[in-house]
Amino acid sequence: MNTLYLSAEDPKTPAIAANIIMQGGLVAIPTETVYGLGANGLDETAVAKIFEAKGRPQDNPLILHISGPEQIELFCHHIPQSAYDLAEKFWPGPLTMVLPARSIVPKRTTGNLDTVAVRCPDSDVTREIIRLSGVPLAAPSANISGKPSTTTAKHVKYDHDGRIDAIVDGGPCRVGVESTIIDLSGERPRLLRPGGITPEQLSEVLGEIEVDKAVTSQLGKDDVVRAPGMKYRHYAPTAPVVIVSGSREAAAQYIRAHFTPGDRVLCFEEELSLYEGCDPLSYGMEADVNTLSAGLFAALRELDDASIHQVYARCPVGGGVAYAVQNRLKKAAAFHVVDAEEEAK
Ligand code: TXA
Ligand code: MG
Repeated sequence: MNTLYLSAEDPKTPAIAANIIMQGGLVAIPTETVYGLGANGLDETAVAKIFEAKGRPQDNPLILHISGPEQIELFCHHIPQSAYDLAEKFWPGPLTMVLPARSIVPKRTTGNLDTVAVRCPDSDVTREIIRLSGVPLAAPSANISGKPSTTTAKHVKYDHDGRIDAIVDGGPCRVGVESTIIDLSGERPRLLRPGGITPEQLSEVLGEIEVDKAVTSQLGKDDVVRAPGMKYRHYAPTAPVVIVSGSREAAAQYIRAHFTPGDRVLCFEEELSLYEGCDPLSYGMEADVNTLSAGLFAALRELDDASIHQVYARCPVGGGVAYAVQNRLKKAAAFHVVDAEEEAK
């Protein structure tokens, strides 16, 4: 298959991409979070192609991308007022809501669940593609399953060139980590995945929210899984990753003491000089957490190299967007964290 490359800036792009979607094809779409691999979310055959291209487990449901809050009721029922309040405040933007699904949504899209995840992405070209195709776009992150998500069209090309119909290039993704997922289908709102809309922002609308266990710890095989995607190995380079926490100095001391040739250090830009000779890679500035979320997946992709033995990673502390960065890094590290200050005692 010859993959078509389309620029988000070309006025012809939305119509070309929408046409491919209507014919049951696969189009990689830019969003503010990460690139998605989109297909007609109401067409089981088209949706099946997404699972095949990604090598995605069949029970892992997809997010339906819609063009605005007025489309929620087309695909969901028993919609609480809070869903509209969240949509009004945070859409278009990096927030996904899980709600009871209408029967029009195929089981392939929902991974056999009674609920469906919906989100309105903050990308003009992608919303225009949705409007023109007249259907919601089912779109997971465009990476091959298990690998770091794709935040540039080049990464999508690397994973899918010749295997999907088209890639729409909208430049690097602004947020860089996938959307926040809030489940509104149960008795209490529950955070299934942290992202660009922070728990603090959600609480302003929803009051207290529960945080799913999958966000904070490695799930065991007997744990109940609410977001099926959370149980799979994720974002992981080939080499094992360990997060080294503690002060800048304590962490550098620990890492330099344990570093052997062939290892890599993933750190903040402010720390580069501490790791001379240790092949450091910066993913952004600690002082500006948005640069860390925007740079994380590209860095993890660079570290996905079979010749690397071990990755030592530095992780931002605190809430807000840092909470989402911690979650992705901890998943990449299979929740393996070493406290350098404890180790120094
Ligand atoms: O930012 C994003 O959300 C990106 C862009 C492309 O929009 N998409 C994305 O999709 O991250 P994906 O498939 O990589 O992650 C979706 C997550 C998975 O963990 C999946 O299990 C969960 O959402 N999910 C989808 N539908 C669900 C549902 N009905 N109930 C619970 N979890 C659901
Ligand atoms: Mg994903």
